[in-house]
Amino acid sequence: MPLASPRDDVSLPAIDRTAAERVVSGTALAQVATSTTPRIQVADLDAYFGSVHAVRHVTVDLNDRSVTAIIGPSGCGKSTFLRCLNRMHETIPGARVDGEVLLDGENIYGDGISPVAVRRQIGMVFQRPTPFPTMSIRDNVAAGLVVADQRPSRRETDEIIERALKRAALWDEVGDRLKQSATALSGGQQQRLCIARALATDPEVLLLDEPTASLDPLSTQKVEELIYELHTEVTVVIVTHNMQQAARVSEQTAFFLSGELIEVAPTETMFTRPSDERTEAYITGRFG
Ligand SMILES: Nc1ncnc2c1ncn2[C@@H]1O[C@H](COP(=O)(O)OP(=O)(O)OP(=O)(O)O)[C@@H](O)[C@H]1O
Ligand SMILES: [Mg+2]
Repeated sequence: MPLASPRDDVSLPAIDRTAAERVVSGTALAQVATSTTPRIQVADLDAYFGSVHAVRHVTVDLNDRSVTAIIGPSGCGKSTFLRCLNRMHETIPGARVDGEVLLDGENIYGDGISPVAVRRQIGMVFQRPTPFPTMSIRDNVAAGLVVADQRPSRRETDEIIERALKRAALWDEVGDRLKQSATALSGGQQQRLCIARALATDPEVLLLDEPTASLDPLSTQKVEELIYELHTEVTVVIVTHNMQQAARVSEQTAFFLSGELIEVAPTETMFTRPSDERTEAYITGRFG
């Protein structure tokens, strides 16, 4: 799938320019009209690993059918914040969350809410591709479909798999070898397989934690194109260390530092006129 026209003029980073200049040369999707209705509302969120206070008093809206990029130096709490959004944080021994995360107005930490159901609605993809190595390509995509007593029929499953692989821009490459092991795929293909697996349950929100960090430029471009395609259907939150990537794929960017959300703004504003001097210092490469 070719890049859509709003990003046709985006070039690869030039090494002799500052980070800020580079990101400004990218055309942020902020220029494309998208929804501003919040799908996720985070209110006064704190996350802990034992006594480590990793996310501090974060309040932010994540808009429906748009892409929010999370940036900030290593250790500032980006991954922890992301894992709080689908109840993955609490799976770590000693980890704890305070505050609210509303999905369509309902607190995912509310009484009686099933974390498994939350994770089906809010899918996640990690920095390194994590296919199940003993499973086929087909079974990897289908892995999240069997829930409790519900199992889609073989025909339904085939349809879901084909649709998920098409949405993840992988069908053309693997459609004729679904029974092969997922480990036979390249790293970039494996990452798109993991995105297909996350999409198979038809989530409302997709969380991507540095999804292209281990990929080559071409695979990175494919995943970025995929994020661009998805943003009209799904709410995407992407953690990235690559500010040009944030500029290319997101409408809104949030800057974290030491567990706090310092600033959140339309991506173009963030990279051209940040309101906090710490944001400016970070995006111009003065630290981090
Ligand atoms: N399992 C853990 N146990 C204890 N502390 C942890 C654990 N995981 C992360 N932390 C701490 O929580 C803080 C936030 O970590 P987190 O992984 O969210 O940072 P990050 O912004 O994603 O960093 P990076 O860019 O390197 O991925 C850090 O101080 C880290 O040392
Ligand atoms: Mg991280």
